[in-house]
This record gives sequence, structure tokens and C-alpha cells, in this order.
Amino acid sequence: MQPFPRRGRRLALPALLPLLTGSLAFALVSEDIKKEVKQSKNLEKSEISRKNDIDLKGIVFVIQSQSNSFHAKRAEQLKKSILEQSAQLTQELPSVLLLHQLAKQEGAWTILPILPHFSATYSRNSSWIFFCEEETRIQIPELLETLRRYSPSKEWFLGKALHDKESTIIHHYAFSEDPTAFKYPDFAAGWALSIPLVNKLTKRLKSESLKSDFTIDLKHEIALYIWDKGDGPPLTPVPELCTDGVDSGCATTFRSSLPLCGNPVKKEDIFVAVKTCKRFHGERIPIVKRTWEGQASLIEYYSDYADSSIPTIDLEIPNTDRGHCGKTFAILERFLNRSHDKIAWLVIVDDDTLISISRLRHLLSCYDASEPVFLGERYGYGLGTGGRGPILLGYTLLLKRSVSGSCSYNRMVFSRKAIRRLLASKCRCYSNDAPDDMVLGMCFSGLGIPVTHSPLFHQARPVDYPKDYLSHQVPISFHKHWNIDPVKVYFTWLAPSEEDSARPETHRSSKEEL
Ligand SMILES: *[C@@H]1O[C@H](CO)[C@@H](O)[C@H](O)[C@H]1NC(C)=O
Ligand SMILES: *[C@@H]1O[C@H](CO)[C@@H](O)[C@H](O)[C@H]1NC(C)=O
Repeated sequence: MQPFPRRGRRLALPALLPLLTGSLAFALVSEDIKKEVKQSKNLEKSEISRKNDIDLKGIVFVIQSQSNSFHAKRAEQLKKSILEQSAQLTQELPSVLLLHQLAKQEGAWTILPILPHFSATYSRNSSWIFFCEEETRIQIPELLETLRRYSPSKEWFLGKALHDKESTIIHHYAFSEDPTAFKYPDFAAGWALSIPLVNKLTKRLKSESLKSDFTIDLKHEIALYIWDKGDGPPLTPVPELCTDGVDSGCATTFRSSLPLCGNPVKKEDIFVAVKTCKRFHGERIPIVKRTWEGQASLIEYYSDYADSSIPTIDLEIPNTDRGHCGKTFAILERFLNRSHDKIAWLVIVDDDTLISISRLRHLLSCYDASEPVFLGERYGYGLGTGGRGPILLGYTLLLKRSVSGSCSYNRMVFSRKAIRRLLASKCRCYSNDAPDDMVLGMCFSGLGIPVTHSPLFHQARPVDYPKDYLSHQVPISFHKHWNIDPVKVYFTWLAPSEEDSARPETHRSSKEEL
């Protein structure tokens, strides 16, 4: 109904009243009042829907997606769900962006380099940039209600707050006086920046380059950058942004089971390479043997010294104090040269890595071994150079700073196809002691092979992560024995109820399935 006839009737009503008497008048009037009530109800409805329109259109959804086919598919499913839910509420649909499609520049996953793009494109017609992961589940009506509580004309940084219990190496031991004081967002619950804040950050990004050129734990580093030593807003914790969904008021939840696509990959399809060196044969290898070795059907230990009691294989690459590029490439070559073509996957781990091979078999079922796959925990280096730096995997650079004369390595998973492509190229170590993660990152990036990040591989020990964060994960690996009982950590975090916690997706409700 248009406002004009309505206003006309309202004017007509008082004019009619003196002319009419008796029941007819009352009947007419009450009819009219009924109509009025009905109309105002309709109006209320259309106002709500118009408000939904404005509010929902003002949210730009950004899914922190990856280009690997499995991940891209999951992100597309989430996008579909957001759009379908939105269509129930409004006529005009919000923008839903997939991060991996958004920017060709490789540092886009670190978010900050891409904020100027959001500022330029959306600052005139939007209020919020809402980020989430591909397994975040969003209830759009609840999310709208939640965001309405915060004025979009102010600078807001909203999320589910995590904090450290103790100062940790992965955060460069920041806030060591009181590690609990600093809050950073759990990406799994979704997090939001208001446009005024995006604009302010954009100005800062344009006037000064990023100081830290090292990205280890992105969520922590983004919160630090936004907070800007007190010149910017801290994270505002929003209770409706959840990961567990126990609370009925949640606008978001997170699918925390391990993905399983079909059957787990067979044990015989995974070859495990353990890197070690002589000084750790007696200290670390017995722990591997007491914990996860039995889960691996094909395993070899590579060292700088042949020790038949383990047994280790001497790769005849001189031991290096710094990078281990020479050794890693020797392992890759050996995998292609020696193993039967049937073994689809190669996993390279460190001698102080604790890993659940059984969970890895579940996870790998979702990746297509006929594609080049390079999977691990991602970090970035050289991002300060305008976000064009290489994407790297692993953690050795970080740990080498604290472990002198180190013999520490990364966990990486390769499909045979990825190794073939790599070794067929001319990309090699520039020296035996080059950092292998950096060289591999650059080689794969040059070959156009995406590096796939999985947060289920951990570069540090369970105590280095907030409990709240680990609670929505089925972790696959941890690393380092320092100040912990590694056997106990293995049996607490990785061994028990492996099959239970890795529930097949098909057992989950269709709602969670999208
Ligand atoms: C806002 O503007 C951008 C750039 O013109 C456009 O891509 C986007 O769809 C617009 N969003 C809305 C909600 O109109
Ligand atoms: C793998 O095979 C190639 C070619 O036959 C050979 O040059 C190379 O040394 C071999 N590498 C290893 C680690 O066996």
C-alpha cells in the first residue's frame, strides 16, 4: 500500500465522525480501525523487511577460502547457504566473497593487504566486513540482530575473544607480564570490522608499510595491528559469535569434526619420512616408537648417520645447522625413485612431532591425490613488502631462532603429483642449508601449485594454544618436547577415541551439513 491513500483515509475519518450516528457509525469506525491495524501490521512487516534489506546489504561476507578443490567447494557451499538464508529475508542479496578468488596477490590470506580493496569498493555502500572460515555456520537473522547492537558509524572490531594463558613462542612471547590481557579473535566464530575501521586501517596501511614481515599466527597479528598499542580499538567480544553452538543465542557456530570424504586413505597409501640427526637418535626416536610409529605402515627415518637399531638411513647430505633444504629434496627424490607408484602421499615430519596417522588418513580422504597437493600449516614471510612475499609452510625459521644448532623440521604432506611437478622443474635449493620451507614455498608458488593450509597441524605444543581454540578442533599433530611429557601429550590429545572424534560427516545432521 502506498502512503497517499492511507494518509487520505486517516484525514477522512475525523471528518466523517460528526456526520454519522448510531451503530452504523460504530460499525464503520471499527471496520476502519481493523483495517488500520492490519495496514500498520503490514507496514511494520515491510519496514522490517526494508530494514533487513538495508542491514543485510550493508554486510560484505568474506569467506577465508582456499583454492584447493576440496576447500573451494566447501566455501561455495557456505556461500550458497548465506545467499539462500538472505533470500528468505530480503530482496537484494548481500555480497559474499571468496578470499581466494578475490585477489591474485598471494598475501591476500593475511587480510591486511586486502583491506584497501574493501575500503575502495565497499565504503560507500556497506557498513560491515564480516569474515569467516569455510566451516563457520551462520544464522543470518541472528547475525543481523547481533550486528544491529553496534553503531556502524563507529570503529568496531568484533569477534569471539581468545587469549593466551601463558606467553607463547607463537606470539613472540608478547604481553609476558599478563598474557591473558590481550584478546584476539577466533576466526572460526566469524569476526567483523566496521567500515570506518576498515577506512582507518587503509589509511595507515598506505602511509606506512607493515612492520612485521613474519606471519605465524594471523589472528593474533591482526589484532595487534588493529589495536596499534592503544591507538586503535581492542577486540570487542561478542557472545553471539560462537564455535560450539551450545548456547541457543549463537549467531555462528563451527563444524569441528574432522572432514571425511568417503573412506579414510589406506595406511599403505601414506609414506612417512621422519627427519632426525644423530644427536637425537636416543632422545626423540624412542618417543616416536612408543607413540605413533605403530600407526604408520610405511615409515623411514632419515639422518646424517646410519644406525641399524632404529634403523636410520644416512642421506649423505652433510648436517647443517640452519636450513635443511638439501635433505628435504633428497627425501623427495628418494620417494619418487624408490617407492611404488601406488603410494599416493608423502608426509615429512620432524623427530619431535607427535602425529595421529589415523586422523591424517581421514583428512586426506578429502584431497584428490591426482592433483598436486602441498598441505601443512602455513605461515608467511616477506609480507611487509606489500603482501607480495612468498607463502611458506612450516615453522623452522621461527624455532631456529630459539634452538641453537637445531635439528628441527616441519610437517608437510605432499601428493605424488606435487613432487613430480616440483622435481620436473628446475627449482632447487640454492644451498643445502637453505630453509626448506621457504624454498618449497617459492618453488610451488612459481609452479602455480597452491599451498593448502590446515590449522589441524600445529607448530607448537598444546599449552601454546588457548584451550578455547583447541576445543573446536580435532588436532592432527603437535610439535616440540620442550617442558612437556610428550608421551602423555600424545595420549591426551592425539591417541584417544581417534575413530570417535573423527565422525564421518554422513552421521551429522543435515542442518550442519548445509
Ligand atoms: C557496493 O558497491 C560495489 C562496487 O561498486 C558493488 O560491487 C557491490 O555490489 C555494492 N554493494 C551493494 C550492497 O550494493
Ligand atoms: C633418483 O634417480 C635419479 C635418476 O635415476 C638419480 O640421478 C638420483 O640420484 C636418484 N636420487 C636418489 C635420492 O636416489
